[in-house]
Amino acid sequence: MTEVNNVELEARLENRERFEPPESFVEQANIVDDAIYDEFEGNWPDCWKRAADLLDWETEYETILDDSNPPFFEWFTGGSLNASANCLDRHLEDRGDEAAIEWVGEPADEDNRTYTYNDLHREVNEFAAALRDLGVGEDDIVTLYMPMVPELPIAMLACARIGAPHSVVFAGFSADALATRMNAADSEYLVTCDGYYRRGDALEHKAKTDEGLGGVDHDVRTVVVDRLGDEYDHPMASGEFDYDDLVAEQAGTKVEPVQRDAEDMLFLMYTSGTTGEPKGVKHTTGGFLSWASWTSQAVLDIKPEDTYWCSADIGWITGHSYIVYGPLALGTTSVMYEGTPDHPTRDRLWEIVEEYEVDQLYTAPTAIRAFMKWGSQYPKRHDLSSLRLLGTVGEPINPRAWKWYYTHIGNENCPIVDTWWQTETGGMMLTTLPGVKDAKPGSAGPPLPGIDIRVVDTRGNEVEPGKAGYLTVNKPWPGMLRTLYNNDDRFISEYWAEYSDTESDDPDDWVYFPEDGAKIDEDGYITVLGRVDDVINVSGHRLGTMEIESAIVGVEGVAEAAVVGGNHELKGEAVYAYVITEEEFDGGEELRSRIVEGVEDAIGPIARPEEIVFTPELPKTRSGKIMRRLLEDIANGEELGDTSTLRNPDVVRDIEATVGDD
Ligand code: PRX
Repeated sequence: MTEVNNVELEARLENRERFEPPESFVEQANIVDDAIYDEFEGNWPDCWKRAADLLDWETEYETILDDSNPPFFEWFTGGSLNASANCLDRHLEDRGDEAAIEWVGEPADEDNRTYTYNDLHREVNEFAAALRDLGVGEDDIVTLYMPMVPELPIAMLACARIGAPHSVVFAGFSADALATRMNAADSEYLVTCDGYYRRGDALEHKAKTDEGLGGVDHDVRTVVVDRLGDEYDHPMASGEFDYDDLVAEQAGTKVEPVQRDAEDMLFLMYTSGTTGEPKGVKHTTGGFLSWASWTSQAVLDIKPEDTYWCSADIGWITGHSYIVYGPLALGTTSVMYEGTPDHPTRDRLWEIVEEYEVDQLYTAPTAIRAFMKWGSQYPKRHDLSSLRLLGTVGEPINPRAWKWYYTHIGNENCPIVDTWWQTETGGMMLTTLPGVKDAKPGSAGPPLPGIDIRVVDTRGNEVEPGKAGYLTVNKPWPGMLRTLYNNDDRFISEYWAEYSDTESDDPDDWVYFPEDGAKIDEDGYITVLGRVDDVINVSGHRLGTMEIESAIVGVEGVAEAAVVGGNHELKGEAVYAYVITEEEFDGGEELRSRIVEGVEDAIGPIARPEEIVFTPELPKTRSGKIMRRLLEDIANGEELGDTSTLRNPDVVRDIEATVGDD
């Protein structure tokens, strides 16, 4: 970038200017007419026919939205379809020999695998037949505990083919986390793998799986994918089956896709909430698939001939919606990378973009901040001119990181979509339509057409532009979660009770509360400020502070713990733990490492505390509630406000002094 350009860009960021999409992008964009916003508003909810029409339906739906029993909204009722047929079978005629998944393994010298739509269709059918033979029936929940290996999307689509909902558990989660989720879902089937590669090392995964299975309170049949080959030899116990053997036995078998009602469950995804218990978010076949497809087309601008890359992990919702279901439903080529961006060198991602001529790249601000720190020499070494659109997800993007992405990756020639959404929303909600709206660095943008999102005060009244408030979604949308698995009451109390009249059967009285703070500008662009509940966002990964606290108090010698998110340059937020020890224990290195171990065992390394502060007391209100805000301020080194309402004001100064000592 020239000095002149740099100064000009800095000034534009400083003035919070908007950035128009490049002409070259607009000329070819899937959506170019601003009228779509008014059209959808005027024609709501019929506008969502547009999303449903992206799919092939076995039986046409009768009703677009059934809102007779709020907040249990139903979409496209009367219709039936199969998600795997929509992601595979219907593309075979025109695109059978085109790549569906370009899988890039971590070891740089390994043979990467291209799965054409024909290949993927064949293996999904074979594995679907194998699952059926193992006893998996319609509506049985199959847990998939796998890293970024091609067998993960294959297993997802195989489940979808036979009408068995999947529940993917992120491979980085611990054995305990696996057991909790399998027990909560009553899941009797598991697909896992022997191990995978991380920064050149072969990590074993099977022993962790076995440990988790030890905590499952019912019998489980397990399929094991062999990723490491001879590197890791593991015994197969009874009730365990080798993936390759199963697929080989079914060579050439075809499985008729099971027609599912639009409202039938496609998958469960466990996510963190305010209590220690993870929430099983239920997504449906018609609503979720149409939402993932529509937003992939409208926002990511995906066309079948594109090569598109989302660098998330399929273990999180982003990978479900935007590596697997959305892109494959549109018949495009989806790139899937097993490893980390810095192995074997810090230009691995740029090497992949260049080699596969990637058109769209969708990643997280935390990754962009790491790239920035490493320096622009890495992307500079590569030809990134194939890129036409950039996206971010998972956390707010700071204007500095935005600028780096825009200049060094996008060459000032790609629109950036900053997409706000959640596990529960199924897909994007707030962001710019890239061929229509300007981008405003740091702000996700206006709600998508047909989406009614507001920023309100504690009474639900809209706040003035520029003032902080809470996000609410005031109308239902097709991709919304339908409930929390086996827990309708918690579904209502977690998401709807805050602003809704829970006695009412008028759908307009029901307002969804995402638990995010935000502010809106005069031009309707919304900046998301972060969670307002006890959930924190570490490197774009959602973690419950209560889950981490309960892991810490499970460690011998810990009497009480409070966990908050503190600002972190690279991770966005990091875990800060304040710990009171039992009397006979010292807060020293030994206990510190046992606490780290306890958190890793209960949740996984992603929840590892950045800082553990031992303290004789925690700041509490007179009614005995821990003052987390105050602890956050201490973690962030901020000025503390009035502490006079505290039961124990001195403790704040003591903790501050301890943090300062570290
Ligand atoms: O706080 C918001 C933040 O991530 C939360 C949702 O996390 P999860 O369910 O794990 O889904 C992540 C991927 C969609 C939200 O409540 N978040 C997500 N995207 C953004 C964001 N915060 C600011 N800007 C975003 N673009």
